[in-house]
Amino acid sequence: MSKITAAITGVGAYVPDYILSNAELEKMVDTTDEWIISRTGIKERRILKGEGKGTSHMGVEAVCQLLAKTQTDPKDIDLIICATTTPDFVFPATANLIAHEVGATRSFSYDMQAACSGFLYAMVVGAQFIETGKYRKIIVVGADKMSSIIDYQDRATCIIFGDGAGAILLEPNQEGFGVIDSILHSDGGGAIHLHQKAGGSRRPPSLETVQNREHYVYQEGAAVFKHAVVNMAEVSRAVMDRNHLSGDLVDWLVPHQANKRIIDATAQKMELAEEKVMLNIHRYGNTTNGTLPLCLADYESQLRRGQNLIFAAFGGGFTWGAVYVRWAYNGQP
Ligand code: UT7
Repeated sequence: MSKITAAITGVGAYVPDYILSNAELEKMVDTTDEWIISRTGIKERRILKGEGKGTSHMGVEAVCQLLAKTQTDPKDIDLIICATTTPDFVFPATANLIAHEVGATRSFSYDMQAACSGFLYAMVVGAQFIETGKYRKIIVVGADKMSSIIDYQDRATCIIFGDGAGAILLEPNQEGFGVIDSILHSDGGGAIHLHQKAGGSRRPPSLETVQNREHYVYQEGAAVFKHAVVNMAEVSRAVMDRNHLSGDLVDWLVPHQANKRIIDATAQKMELAEEKVMLNIHRYGNTTNGTLPLCLADYESQLRRGQNLIFAAFGGGFTWGAVYVRWAYNGQP
């Protein structure tokens, strides 16, 4: 019997309705539309409004769309992994809440935290469960309500991030489609450049931490940028070389959407033409764990069975990696 691989057999996505434009940000902090577009490529991002709505709200919407599109009964789902850096609660896991809401009553579910590389990590982990032959339907969700941890007085971070969610279905395949190879890395030495100072066990929430604005994303942008440019490009090239893929043989780069300049550098190192690079940063900004599945959702109709996709991400931790996927189905027109 041929090897079992984990094929992506469907995609679902959700972004909130509210659009936070560069023009609106110009009124909130000392910035300009021109600066934001030229330094990041971002024109607008979505923000989840509404009392009591957390990351799971968007995850549920994305999973419901995925179940409907793939005509999957939620009771047939074996496992839901939610990659998120902004869980609804410290516990229980956001994936538990999503599974309950969508009626995945026979599944088990848990969260993964690897910042902006979380979806990549979760996709690889989900694939391993399929490859054992024991599990047949796994949903991987990438979702973040970044607006809940962004300081809208800090012009260096508030212009980048947005809210959104996406989900994929993984199923066994014996024709060589799906997750073929992956290279994942992490380096905790990078934590000093990108983290949230308070709210965890090392520095629990207090009046002081709130007054000091320590519950927001702290990012040394230039330092993160340098590491991201080098590592995302290198790891993407490495997964290509290991699988004897030249730029000609890669059909799509699915890159984390943190900064268009990082994406361009990665594509250049891979020797990829611009039209092979999935890009929606101008519409959504950096949705952390949402970026990769949101790209898939936007480009799904153009994807064809047998195409070679390279996923790549870099984020807090530091964490980074690249995954080679052979696409399993023709996207709907
Ligand atoms: O997804 C997780 C991983 N994160 C990333 O990959 C993000 C990586 N970093 C970046 O994308 C970029 O570093 C940023 C977009 C965050 C910043 O762009 P940059 O070109 O690296 O700017 P910088 O931080 O080096 O700052 C350059 C100047 C500074 O002014 P001075 O000191 O030169 O006078 C900043 O104060 O730009 C200033 N600046 C701004 N000016 C207008 C920073 N933010 C803004 C702003 N509007 N929003």
